[in-house]
Amino acid sequence: MLQSMRVVGGCRLEGEIRVSGAKNLALPALVATILTDKPVTLRNVPNLADVKSLLELLNCIGTEVSYNDKHTITLSTRSIKSATAPYDFVRKMRASILVLGALIARHKQATVSLPGGCAIGARGVDLHIKALEMMGAEIAIENGYIEAKAPNGLIGCDIAFPMTTVTGTENILMAATLAKGTTRLINAAMEPEVEAFCELLNKMGARISGAGTSVITIEGVDELHGTEFEIIPDRIEAGTYAIAAAVTNGKILLKDCRYEHLTSFFETLNSVGVACEKVDNGVLVYRKSDEIQPISIQTAPYPGFPTDLQAQYTVLMSICNGSASITENIFENRFMHVPELARMGANISVQGKTALVTGVEKLKGAQVMATDLRASVSLVIAGLVAEGETIVNRLYHLDRGYENLEEKLNACGAHVERFEV
Ligand code: EPU
Repeated sequence: MLQSMRVVGGCRLEGEIRVSGAKNLALPALVATILTDKPVTLRNVPNLADVKSLLELLNCIGTEVSYNDKHTITLSTRSIKSATAPYDFVRKMRASILVLGALIARHKQATVSLPGGCAIGARGVDLHIKALEMMGAEIAIENGYIEAKAPNGLIGCDIAFPMTTVTGTENILMAATLAKGTTRLINAAMEPEVEAFCELLNKMGARISGAGTSVITIEGVDELHGTEFEIIPDRIEAGTYAIAAAVTNGKILLKDCRYEHLTSFFETLNSVGVACEKVDNGVLVYRKSDEIQPISIQTAPYPGFPTDLQAQYTVLMSICNGSASITENIFENRFMHVPELARMGANISVQGKTALVTGVEKLKGAQVMATDLRASVSLVIAGLVAEGETIVNRLYHLDRGYENLEEKLNACGAHVERFEV
């Protein structure tokens, strides 16, 4: 049964939202547990559709999964039962590609479906494959599957990524932990999730240095062991609720949010007229002035403005006092929220990778269609500030990345509800 969400516009959000664990760390962390035959316990794992899909895939691979509580999971992979990631998993969730690096490291062989098309762009995995080949893996593409093997194990080397890739860096980090010798990743991703991921691998016995910088060095070890690890707060979820506070002229404490993980984003909001103050237990967000100032942005790898907050920021600019340009540099097709926002009265024109947004006095409620995770949440945010009622269809995208979205928003005074269609 498909679900939709009804959003009543015009409520001012005020209160506290606890930020959940980061999806984009939880997913690689779950996969990393298959690098060892010992149990690994992960805390603060968000309860999301993507996490459930990945646990199903790990279950096929041979992982025993036990929930200690709703957010604490112990995973144990005593042996690899199947080294295959079928098309149906990878198609639904691109992050499944992460099992490639882990399986080839532990099992010396892996068969992983190519992800295929994705709503926000082509998103190749050529860089993952090339890097593994440089480490000595033999890789063939057969019937839409990556067939990878390294019967004598992988060998460390220098790998310079021509562009930064988050899951590419994570995949090769896992492969390199159990490789012979030293691997150096140049132009590695510096996202806080990647840095925390290195911390998890080190707690499992890996020898990684330079995490959080663009050059990461991994000295291979013979085996990894079990550990306990806590997933960091989700900075994209936090940024999303910051925008919800901003557009509704509200005041929200983002509990547990780490300001330093979103510095460029919070600085932009400050310039726009939205205070983002670092406080003891998180970040407090509220409007400093009645008007939203137009500030142009460009998305960039960390520490730049995150692509995963671009759609939400577009909503903020759609009610600004002037015009701002928004340039998407990471994905070639990440403006699918624009035609839907236009149905709500937004004034946005897209030319190539830039959207020119001219603020309007009011957005108006409408029926809109969610197309991907971040686009979906941007439509909910637009609904919060629009006049009247907004219905967001195809809600399943939202559940991939936002835990208890309705509960969190309604606790701050919103009126959003889910219904079946
Ligand atoms: N790219 C290639 N070849 C590759 C790898 C990447 O051409 O082999 C290109 C992609 O097509 C894209 C760019 O490089 O244009 C960057 O892609 P990246 O590999 O960094 O993205 P990703 O690892 O697939 C992760 C997040 C995304 C987030 C991006 C960028 C996870 C599980 N996913 O994806 O999160 O947008 O990094 O920060 O970590 C989301 O949460 O909504 C989401 C899409």
